[in-house]
Amino acid sequence: MGRVYDLINKIKVGEIKNIIVLAGAGLSTASGIPDFRSPGGLYDTLPVDALTASEVQKKRLRVEPTLVVDIELFSKNQFPYLEVRRPFILGTKEKRWKMTIGHIFLELLHKHDVLKRLYIQNIDGIEHHSLIDPVKIINVHGTLNKVSCEHCGTEHDADEFCSLVETNIKNIYGDLGIPGPTSSTNILCKKCRKPAVKPKTVLFGRNLPSEYFNAIQEDFTDSNDCDLIIAIGTSLSVFPAANICQMGRKDVPRLVINSQVVGAELGLDFEQQDAIFTGLCDEVCLEIIKKLNWQDELRARSSAMCASSQKMVEMM
Ligand code: OAD
Repeated sequence: MGRVYDLINKIKVGEIKNIIVLAGAGLSTASGIPDFRSPGGLYDTLPVDALTASEVQKKRLRVEPTLVVDIELFSKNQFPYLEVRRPFILGTKEKRWKMTIGHIFLELLHKHDVLKRLYIQNIDGIEHHSLIDPVKIINVHGTLNKVSCEHCGTEHDADEFCSLVETNIKNIYGDLGIPGPTSSTNILCKKCRKPAVKPKTVLFGRNLPSEYFNAIQEDFTDSNDCDLIIAIGTSLSVFPAANICQMGRKDVPRLVINSQVVGAELGLDFEQQDAIFTGLCDEVCLEIIKKLNWQDELRARSSAMCASSQKMVEMM
């Protein structure tokens, strides 16, 4: 833990001034959103039999669950994606997902003027409830808050789309899901009439948004002054996002905050240059906030957090 505390101390004394963060699903699990690759995560619990899909498609989904968020399947059959994403889409409409201590930690980095950029793979948009300047947030895989046609790009009203998801797309999660119809019917694009309307998120096989490439260009030029990269709540297994860990100058340390060790295959060396703080994001971030003496600022933001995070702050 020595290296972790060294890095935190450098933030405290102003030696580290420009932090680039790469965040993933583990940042939001405390809010009630499952991640992708953990046991109990989206891929592990995919109810393949309940999906509106051909037997051939189901057979592939059983061995390759990421297909459910892949353009290859979506271009042929939109229902598996919409059925799997239905609870998430409806929960976002109801503003059910709230910030965690992890989100507030990132907000405090911004408040203390040491956050250079937040690259976030999550599509829940929770980070936009924070006070982080939106120009510093890059939604690497898009967000659920915008809706467009995957075929022709026409934008659709997000509230109208959510209502259609509620009425047209079946609930595949039984009692755990939000009640809905027993079979799914298409949601058509108002312009091209194709059934390809979906949240404006990036499917596997599609390009990342141009904002991502512009920000990377800006943040990682030769003269870049990034002095710490933090990877939080991500398995670092999806590219190109995971490459961010390798984009700093050669001597820039990487701090990983995650419930398990990740990043070794990207060359992160936790014995030398880099550091890892294993544990739940909320617990680890709380610990770091205490070391930075930012507890009062955390307490002041308690009402904006999800119930489990609030409880931890109360017990602090
Ligand atoms: P993953 O599910 O791949 O990884 C989440 C990581 O966070 C895992 O290593 C977990 O062990 C860890 N984790 C989970 N809950 C945690 C918690 N409360 N505290 C600390 N760590 C926790 O999610 P991502 O890395 O975000 O892309 O996935 C990257 C991309 O893969 C997603 O954006 C999505 C997915 O397929 C697309 O759909 C295009």
